[in-house]
Amino acid sequence: MSAARPGFALSREWGPGPAPAPGADPGAAPAPAPAEPLPADASVDLAAEREAAGVDAVLDALDGELIGLGPVKTRIREIAALLLVDRLRARFGLFAEAPSLHMCFTGNPGTGKTTVALRMAELLHRLGYLRRGHVVSVTRDDLVGQYVGHTAPKTKEVLKRAMGGVLFIDEAYYLYRAENERDYGGESIEILLQYMENHRDDLVVILAGYADRMDTFFASNPGMSSRVAHHLEFPDYSLDELTAIGSLMLARQRYRLSPEAERTFREYLSRRMTQPRFANARSVRNALERARLRHANRLAAVSGPLGRDDLVRLEPADFLASRGFSRETGAS
Ligand SMILES: Nc1ncnc2c1ncn2[C@@H]1O[C@H](COP(=O)(O)OP(=O)(O)OP(=O)(O)O)[C@@H](O)[C@H]1O
Ligand SMILES: [Mg+2]
Repeated sequence: MSAARPGFALSREWGPGPAPAPGADPGAAPAPAPAEPLPADASVDLAAEREAAGVDAVLDALDGELIGLGPVKTRIREIAALLLVDRLRARFGLFAEAPSLHMCFTGNPGTGKTTVALRMAELLHRLGYLRRGHVVSVTRDDLVGQYVGHTAPKTKEVLKRAMGGVLFIDEAYYLYRAENERDYGGESIEILLQYMENHRDDLVVILAGYADRMDTFFASNPGMSSRVAHHLEFPDYSLDELTAIGSLMLARQRYRLSPEAERTFREYLSRRMTQPRFANARSVRNALERARLRHANRLAAVSGPLGRDDLVRLEPADFLASRGFSRETGAS
């Protein structure tokens, strides 16, 4: 798998952009000399601008490498169009305020939120909206301290790391604990709000988590709600989508399923979907990793030569031992 293996680290950083040199003032980054605005009767080419920014490469990768997620992909295209048109307008000297691109991603575990956040960061970087295009992924514990005076420095340190990129706050609603007046989460939210407002041209905050808890969070935090411009829902995947995600993952790792194994894998997924702790595409990935292990053990027991196809082909036996096929449901 790629470096984008989200979900199990509390605070980590991915992404393309180099960190600014120590002591460098990000504001003093080499700004292109302002070109003379085009005359009012000039014309510009949107397709050429897309090409120059390399936007299509990101959008095509999004389409090709992520199964389903139609509405999410549409919204990303809309945001790309908005920023492209902004760039063209700027050529005519038509400057507008940077649009607010703070977002909220809601959905169950393993529905692609972290993956899409990484793509989004790259896209916004290519479109010139974000200087670095990296993603800093945090949870409450990275932002909120346990003692008086600890929260502000913690939150600011995280914000400093995220500048020029995306700050991805997983399970963002834990920042706010309605039942506890003396909780420091509110202090962190206040600082986040200030940065979301004042640094909107160089920081995108993405709040992620379950839809219902996010609704409650927004209801109690209208300031946050009003600063989040885009709400993207990540629905659970259908069985067909999960199967397609599995095929994609296998192809990427140079494995394939025998026709019988295809049926077994699909059957496995349809059972797994109904079991506890099912985590959509993440469960697909985990199942394939276990199958790969069993495949290796199966081959290790074979005496005699192995061909390329033996090394590539997964068989029903590699899935049948899965816990998903027994009554035990500890698998993720
Ligand atoms: N639509 C998709 N197509 C292909 N692969 C996907 C898709 N959605 C997710 N994946 C893969 O599934 C895995 C889990 O996805 P990801 O971590 O983005 O989900 P998440 O919503 O952030 O989950 P969590 O809430 O558990 O953090 C990743 O390996 C990712 O590449
Ligand atoms: Mg995630």
